[in-house]
Formats: sequence, C-alpha cells, structure tokens
Amino acid sequence: MRIKLLNYLRQKDTYLSGEELSRTLGITRAGVWKHIQELKGLGYEISAVPHLGYKLVSLPDKLFWWEITWNLNTKFLGRKIISLETTSSTMDIAINLGLNKEEEGVVVCSETQTKGRGRLGRTWFSPGGVGLYFSFLLRPEFSLLEVPKITLLSSLGVAEAIKEKTSLDIQIKWPNDIIWKEQKLGGILTEIEAEQDRVNFMVVGIGINVNNSKSQLIKGATSLYLAKGKKIRRVELLQEILRRIEDLYLLFKKEGFLFLIDRWRKFSNLLGHRVRVILPRREIKGEVKDVDSEGSLLIRTDSGVVERVLAGDVIKVT
Ligand code: BTN
Repeated sequence: MRIKLLNYLRQKDTYLSGEELSRTLGITRAGVWKHIQELKGLGYEISAVPHLGYKLVSLPDKLFWWEITWNLNTKFLGRKIISLETTSSTMDIAINLGLNKEEEGVVVCSETQTKGRGRLGRTWFSPGGVGLYFSFLLRPEFSLLEVPKITLLSSLGVAEAIKEKTSLDIQIKWPNDIIWKEQKLGGILTEIEAEQDRVNFMVVGIGINVNNSKSQLIKGATSLYLAKGKKIRRVELLQEILRRIEDLYLLFKKEGFLFLIDRWRKFSNLLGHRVRVILPRREIKGEVKDVDSEGSLLIRTDSGVVERVLAGDVIKVT
C-alpha cells in the first residue's frame, strides 16, 4: 500500500488531499497519514499543507527495489530486484539464487559489501551509500567459449549508460575496467557455474564508484562525482545500465557478437597502444591491434607475431 501511495503521488505534480488519497487507495485518512510518515522515514520529502494535502517533493538516493523497477521497462533484466542494506558480496547472493533455480534476470544490489571482490582475487572496496554494487543472473544456452563475450557486452552496456547519463568521456580497458582519464571508475566480474562445456548459469557483478568522495576511493580510482563535479542519482544510472545490457544481450543472442564489436571499439582505451600483458606463466609485450570475434585481445608482439589473449592483466606502457 505504501508503494501504491508513493506511485500515485509521483504521477501528480500537484497537492493531493488526504480525502482523495484515502478514496483512491481505499484506506482511511489515518492510514494515509501513517504511510506518509513511513515514506518520510525512508527519506522521501513530502510536503503536507493543511487544506491542500500532500505533494512529493524529492526522492532519496536509495536503492529501494520499488525505485529501481519504477518505469524500468525491461523484458527480463531487473524484473525481480533484491535490494539489501549490507551483504558479504552480491555475487554470493546471486550465485545462491542460481543454485536454487531462480529465473534469469534477477538483480541483487546492496548499499555496501563487507567482502566485495574483483578479478584475480582482488578486493572491491564498497563504501556505503555512494557506489553501485550489483550482480545479476543469466542462464545463457551456450558454451563456455561465449562467456568472455558477456563480460565485454556488459562493460559496453555500463560505458554507454554512463556516457548517456553524464556525457563523460568514458573508456573501457579490456576486458572489464571502466576508465575515465586512466583512472578506474568501475569493473565487471563474471563468475560461472558450468559442467563440461555447458554453462548452467552465470553471474555478472558490476561495481561503480558513483558519488564517492576522494577519501572513499582507493589509490588510482576515481568516481563519477569527482569526474563530473556533481552527484548522480544511482537509481537512474542503474536503470540505464540494466536497459542497455538487456538490449545488448538480446542483440547478441539474435545477431551474434560481431554486431557489437564496432560499438565496443569506440570505447576501447587500448587499441593502438603498447601494452604489457601478464599471463599466468609468462608476460608479453606489444601493440594492441584489435579485438577478435571471440572477444580476445589481438596483440602484435615485438617479434612480429600476433597473439590472442583471452584473459590476463593488461598494463599500458609508454
Ligand atoms: C574488477 O574490476 O575486478 C571487478 C569488480 C567487480 C565488483 C562488483 S561490486 C558488485 C559485485 N559484487 C562483488 O563482490 N563484486 C562485484
């Protein structure tokens, strides 16, 4: 009922009398008042004027599920949202959902994480209320070989959404880093549950430094707030990311990965640059030529050979 009342208030830009609200929602005026107090307690600013009624003035920047699903308009991604105040890692929750047969598209987000994780066993620093930390579940009907493409597709969705919402010159550092002026803004982590060559499910986790101040960032990182000079509504950014990733995922399933590479290339901050790639047993040096149809990085090494890199840590060298 509280959410019904909220959605009714947000559709109107005028004051709505307690009587009208009570009639429309089928509750008493005391009930209306009680729900208004609860909404205020959650951070909604609601102006109440005698003889005029109630008007919604502003929304809190909290990742409530009803805010994320409001006007989201996706087909499957984010139709169900689990919104937490704190958790170890949204990856753990989403993986458990996957093991318990949850449907594709569920999104788990949290205001903070106590054990946020990144690629290659790194920690993902997740200070409360300022960043976006979320994971979603996919059940793609394809082989393990396709998994890296989902990471690239997700980073493209994140980059396009950030560009749309902030106009910042965002870049992607293959395979999963979201960069602004060579500083890290966000990252993507993909984990899978698979048998032989079949993916049972995969969880894509995304972390973005949104409204972090300098003291809420690790060395070498930045936030959208610092880059843009103003705060960003996290809910709106999350919605845009979910819409973009869903579009890209559906396009990928229909048309294949080649259709996305051109869009991805526009954001790449490695093409044409000299890099050092740290692989499990060796290191290669060379110039980044392209990304191939499998999502691998193509590097012309100093000996003139073109090597395909499927996974690894890439460092730009000058
Ligand atoms: C990286 O850059 O190494 C990837 C970082 C991924 C961080 C996100 S935050 C939400 C989800 N939960 C986690 O523990 N990690 C991912």
